[in-house]
Amino acid sequence: MLKDIKNIQYHESILSTIGKTPLVKLNKVTRGLKPQIFAKLESVNPGGSNKDRIGVDIIEDAEREGRLKPGGTIVEATSGNTGLGLAIAGAVKGYHCICTMPDKMSIEKIRILRAYGAEVVVTPTAVPHESPESYTEVAKRIVRETPNSILANQYYNQKNPEAHYKTTGPEIWDQTGGQIDYFVAGIGTGGTISGVGRYLKEKNPNVKIIAGDPKGSILRDYFYSKKVTPSFKVYKVEGIGQDFIPGVLHFQFIDEILEISDKESFVLARRLTREEGIFVGGSSGTALAAALKVAEQLTEKDVMVVLLADSGERYLSKMYDDDWMRENRFLIPERITVRFVHESKKTLPRLISIDPVATVRKALDLINQNNISQLPVIDKGTSVGSVEESDLMSAALENPALFDAPVNSLMKSSFPRVHLDELISQAIQLLSKKHPAVLVEDDGKIVGILTRYDVIEYMAR
Ligand SMILES: Cc1ncc(COP(=O)(O)O)c(C=O)c1O
Repeated sequence: MLKDIKNIQYHESILSTIGKTPLVKLNKVTRGLKPQIFAKLESVNPGGSNKDRIGVDIIEDAEREGRLKPGGTIVEATSGNTGLGLAIAGAVKGYHCICTMPDKMSIEKIRILRAYGAEVVVTPTAVPHESPESYTEVAKRIVRETPNSILANQYYNQKNPEAHYKTTGPEIWDQTGGQIDYFVAGIGTGGTISGVGRYLKEKNPNVKIIAGDPKGSILRDYFYSKKVTPSFKVYKVEGIGQDFIPGVLHFQFIDEILEISDKESFVLARRLTREEGIFVGGSSGTALAAALKVAEQLTEKDVMVVLLADSGERYLSKMYDDDWMRENRFLIPERITVRFVHESKKTLPRLISIDPVATVRKALDLINQNNISQLPVIDKGTSVGSVEESDLMSAALENPALFDAPVNSLMKSSFPRVHLDELISQAIQLLSKKHPAVLVEDDGKIVGILTRYDVIEYMAR
């Protein structure tokens, strides 16, 4: 007997799973602030971002108008997420996608796009918007050269803000029971903030719409000065900020724009992941930083929603890679742990030590071979003392018989111990006083050593 499909709860295709994303209360990163702050988790969309919402509408509009025919190609200039939204809808509907992307975007985004069958053309980031090499101009050229193709045109296509007016805005209004006072988001094309802003202000003109804009983008300055002032600063946050004014960015729905640095964005996004368990990308950190700054002035009565645009998975090789964060000087030194510096030590093995009954000659050999200046003296896993090259040398020069004496006859007191999870500032305090090195311990065992040289080398890097 055939089963009754009506009794099965399912979606006709992946496309109807887009939207209706959850609202989650933030509890820790908001500590000390009075308003209720909720996150709208756009990473829960099937393609992992707010941009899934616009892909289908843009494609269906082109189909309706006869601009896109079966077997056609959709071309788009994208920081990656819109490309994904289009690629998902394209996969379901049978269209080919070609995405042009500036080379600052993460390799993960390129790989995900290719996984969906899209073609990716990487273009230089550091060229003006109107340059023939820019990702937007290359996309236009591909459309001219490809038969039966359309440009999705997210920067000028009003279907973009309309999609958010139709879905994101009403969802937020309903989820807050109409009690929202502040909405905060980043601006890439401006589609999200314009669509949501328009909807919320139609419902209640007192709702304030706030944006976080990366330092180096021209949007905040334009908003207040009404002048386009070129910026030569390249910032690292992806997907938001602009060097031109997009046609779908409707400033009349925005009340305030705050400038946020890359460092603030990445550090906050990482905190959201670690403290709230919400895995997000850098632009979510930008939006949250703006939200928290505005929230400082608000009261218990205020309700704020901050839109978190995408997931952290597509930035594993960047903002979630400590080496990348360190190279870009985004890590906050006060929060760096001993573990962090210890694990980034270039010299291996991480602990070279000597037995108390080994000879001074052996100790000097070890020091020489490893190009170090001191050694912890360790007896069956316990630190019993320390020796320094200069002391051993002067003693042995005065009395050569000491070359064959045991190390414990010349050793000094042990190096102090610091735990892997202690802050590096603790170790620096000890090192800057009288100790040339500290022993690193974990679970009661000595697992390594940090010398003055190790910490200075780390700081210089
Ligand atoms: C990661 C990320 N955050 C935020 C946005 C901003 O969305 P909108 O283009 O609707 O302003 C984008 C847009 O590409 C994005 O990729």
